[in-house]
Amino acid sequence: MSVEFDVDHRLWLLRTPESAYAFRLDEADQPRHVHWGPPLTLEQAAQIPSRRNPVDSSFDEPGDDRPELATEGGAFFGVAGLSVRFADGTQAVEWAYAGHDTGHDAGDGLVVRLKDRHFGLVAELHYVLRGDVVERHVVLRNTGTEPISLLRTDSAAWTLPCRDAYRVSHTTGAWSAEAGLLRETLPVGETTLTSRRGVSSHQAQPWVMLDDGTATETRGEVWSTALAWSGSWRITVERSHTGRVTWTGGFGHEGVQWSLDPGETWETPVFAGLYAAGGFGGASRRWHSYVRTFVQPHHEELRPVAYNSWEATGWDVDEPGQLKLAAIAGEVGAELFVVDDGWFGARTGDTAGLGDWTVNRERFPEGLGPLVTEVHRLGMGFGLWVEPEMVNPDSDLYRAHPDWVLHMPHRERTTLRNQLVLDFGRPEVADWAYKWLHRLVAEHGIDYLKWDMNRAFTEAGPGPVWVDHVRAVYGVLDRLRADHPALRIQACAGGGGRTDLGILARTDEIWASDNTDAADRVKIQHGFSQVLPAGAMAAWVTDSPNPLTGREAPLEFRFHVAMAGVLGLGGDLTKWTDDELRRTAELVALYKEIRPVVQHGEAYRLADPAVSPLTAVQFVLGDDVVVLFARRPHDHGRPIVTPVLQGLDPDAVYHDVGTGTTHHGAVLTTHGLLIDLAGTSAASVLVRLRREPR
Ligand code: DGJ
Repeated sequence: MSVEFDVDHRLWLLRTPESAYAFRLDEADQPRHVHWGPPLTLEQAAQIPSRRNPVDSSFDEPGDDRPELATEGGAFFGVAGLSVRFADGTQAVEWAYAGHDTGHDAGDGLVVRLKDRHFGLVAELHYVLRGDVVERHVVLRNTGTEPISLLRTDSAAWTLPCRDAYRVSHTTGAWSAEAGLLRETLPVGETTLTSRRGVSSHQAQPWVMLDDGTATETRGEVWSTALAWSGSWRITVERSHTGRVTWTGGFGHEGVQWSLDPGETWETPVFAGLYAAGGFGGASRRWHSYVRTFVQPHHEELRPVAYNSWEATGWDVDEPGQLKLAAIAGEVGAELFVVDDGWFGARTGDTAGLGDWTVNRERFPEGLGPLVTEVHRLGMGFGLWVEPEMVNPDSDLYRAHPDWVLHMPHRERTTLRNQLVLDFGRPEVADWAYKWLHRLVAEHGIDYLKWDMNRAFTEAGPGPVWVDHVRAVYGVLDRLRADHPALRIQACAGGGGRTDLGILARTDEIWASDNTDAADRVKIQHGFSQVLPAGAMAAWVTDSPNPLTGREAPLEFRFHVAMAGVLGLGGDLTKWTDDELRRTAELVALYKEIRPVVQHGEAYRLADPAVSPLTAVQFVLGDDVVVLFARRPHDHGRPIVTPVLQGLDPDAVYHDVGTGTTHHGAVLTTHGLLIDLAGTSAASVLVRLRREPR
């Protein structure tokens, strides 16, 4: 990895193992994109010609090279990722180049400094290389004497080489239906993906992948970017009339603005970009490796098998019930026991008590101590559900501090799930949250928190809270983790409402969805895996029929689907038969054996659930291979394509650990495995292979 500078062409080249990224300063000192794609030398990059518009006209921009961070001003008619208004009303920027740093001073990357020719505004464009990922963000500084209004402050713009067409891949969804993968032709015009909800959202996740319409799971060029931010965000992809494709993205959404006072700096979150030539699967594996190595705080660890009581008990949580569940969970091999919502205050449903973080003594007469002690005695870690950012109006906290919530004078306080959002942008609120969380963890020896967040923002106005709230949540998480190095945290926002790189940098896993129906989960996990690795995705096996969907599924099927992530248990184990519990213990034990391969291995998606009822996810770590086949119910008599395996050595021989049969790598990667899945209802198979020594 290197950063090179060609003084004559005023061109920078960033080289990663499998890609190159280049941009240069034009005559007006505007940094303009040159190349993002396969490796190039500095000499080659310098040869790339400037792009001209097909027609020279006074109605268009003079050239077609896109800015690295577009600003308003001059003949620019695209989407300005940086929009500022100076005190005199000027809403245009004119940059002058002010130098650059590389190496250690630039955080092992490159920082290009620009300053406005007249006003006191300095911008630093940061580029950091992490494997094949280029992390970008912007730092703005007000060096003047008057405030500057920040109307849009994106982290980066990304530009693609010209092709005949482009396709955009992204996710859409809803609560309990997250991460639905869409792959659509990119129209000419502007396509905005966004969340105005204060969380990264169930409806769209803050990443995009683009390809020229020919990439497949295994082949073709894919350009992808992901924003490390857990609040509102916006990515605008623009396909111009000239065929140029560029996109800009960052935190906040339209109408939200901030004031940058003299002497203040403003730092945007990282918007990370990856070019990969090995299709969508290749792009995902590089993202997974980046996330494991550079994002997740404890990537070297294996995530434990958790038992969580939510689907078993709902809010009916008490000591005898939890002790009963803990005993069974321990017997079947759970390593972590998590008490969900309902253990505190008057929280016996969703209408009261949220915000009152003292143990409910009717439910736990001696406090949490006896349960924690017993869970630890059973050899499990103890985990607890919290929702620090929220309050029920019917709570002591709200009665004491009605001004602590997001609200507007003369407007209703909109409740969703009977709750209001605490304004973490107020330092006293974030401090209150940190203090009770710190005390709770310290007093009870808590090993794990499930940090939940169950509603979108309303009455937040156009001001700084959209950013300040998220930064304060990050601050509380960072402080807690620093004070309690052994504490592990699950990020949850009504399931996968906060699935992003920002939250994953401060937590250990994400609860991908409240939908635990394995048949639906196959699709949710497919979408989740586009950017995030299996070791970051918590997945429970729950009851059949599934409490949400009412659908039945065999125990093995539920396990095999959940085993493609961080396996957990979430059913009412007191109602499971002895046979089911015995089989559960076997499957949990099996998961522990394959867990390093699943959580730390390379993942291959062998089939697309939107196309085939038979899907399979394959994991490879060294000589070990795990393939999890899951066939959802399908039409009788319709043929199903058996997927071929990927990422294997065609010259090697693999033996099936379960049956002892041997297979040639070349056959597995051209014809697949013959698997026996009779019938039309949900069925699954787990295959373990090991490469034989030559
Ligand atoms: C939403 C979460 O996603 C669920 O798992 C559960 O923790 C509930 N909140 C509790 O209120």
